Amino acid sequence: MTTPSGSSKSEHLAATVPGEGSPLEITRRTTPKPGPGELLIEVKAVALNPVDHFQRDTGLYLSEYPAVLGFDAAGIVLSAGPSVGANAPKPGTRIATFTSAWFEQGNPDYGALQKRVIVPAEHVVPLPDNMSFLEGATLPVQVATDKKGMLVWGGASSIGVGAVQISKLLGFTVYTTASPKHHDYLKGIGASRTFDYKEEGVEAKIIAAAKEDGLAIDIAYDAVGQLQSVLDVLKETRGGVEGRVASAPALTDKSPKAAGISVKFVLPPVDKTERLELFQFIFGKWLKEKLETKEYVPGPSIRIIAGGLEGAQEALDILKGGVSGQKLVLEL
Ligand SMILES: NC(=O)c1ccc[n+]([C@@H]2O[C@H](COP(=O)([O-])OP(=O)(O)OC[C@H]3O[C@@H](n4cnc5c(N)ncnc54)[C@H](OP(=O)(O)O)[C@@H]3O)[C@@H](O)[C@H]2O)c1
Repeated sequence: MTTPSGSSKSEHLAATVPGEGSPLEITRRTTPKPGPGELLIEVKAVALNPVDHFQRDTGLYLSEYPAVLGFDAAGIVLSAGPSVGANAPKPGTRIATFTSAWFEQGNPDYGALQKRVIVPAEHVVPLPDNMSFLEGATLPVQVATDKKGMLVWGGASSIGVGAVQISKLLGFTVYTTASPKHHDYLKGIGASRTFDYKEEGVEAKIIAAAKEDGLAIDIAYDAVGQLQSVLDVLKETRGGVEGRVASAPALTDKSPKAAGISVKFVLPPVDKTERLELFQFIFGKWLKEKLETKEYVPGPSIRIIAGGLEGAQEALDILKGGVSGQKLVLEL
């Protein structure tokens, strides 16, 4: 069916969204050639994110159909387009990639849920030999979603696992909330204090712990969307300094506010030059080094949904129903 050359005559399988709100369909697509600065990747694993089922169901940020969804992928570089930098991974290299599906607004050449995908060379990180494609696929979105938090609300979520590790590596003392069954795991990857977010009065417990530790907390990362609680804590712990909250879920007019605390929705930059510069640093340098030294590890635990691309529709439905401390991944 396909040849590794990525010639325009070859085809590959894709899970496509045929129209707004439609279930995924398995189709054959012509394999595109990588353009300037781009790589063609043979996809071996795709990890799913909540925004994938949201885009499938609502058409959010999709400007064309059929669309191919999916941000987090791991695989092998098949070929490179013109003017790819000398430092870009060569054909044959095992990599993980944050695809540009979001920035290309559904253009089917750029979504992860297919056997061949085009990505900007700056969007890939080489994988250490001992890391599987399944593990690699869990990394890109959680790393690229800018973290500045010290209080990480929702540490067991995929975004939270990244926020805890990065905050720790940046030198913060990390407080995080999660179900108690995840507390030991979160301490293992860098949290110094863990709290059960389902417990009545958890905000007061966090405030008391910060006082006990003599710690001012003026920065937080809301990984899951419990902003009011985050603000309630920061109001008491920010020590007169302006508080800053990064929110992974999008904000609306109805999102809570608090005097003296700014809240920002964090998303990788939409401006292409800015994004390529940032991703070159995050994936080409920072993450590459941290994976080699094992200071950054993949997480939360991987749950493989069977069926490869055929399993994508079911996997998105499972994710929509909610997961706990799991990253759903497809093996292609
Ligand atoms: N801005 C961006 O670029 C970006 C990128 C990706 C995702 N997101 C958004 O970030 C959010 C998280 O995505 P994800 O993939 O990390 O989700 P996920 O892994 O599917 O989240 C599931 C986890 O959330 C935890 N959780 C749920 N409600 C909670 C609460 N009230 N307090 C504390 N923990 C809670 C659960 O923890 P327990 O198991 O401990 O109960 C569960 O483990 C979503 O809104 C997503 O759309 C934003």
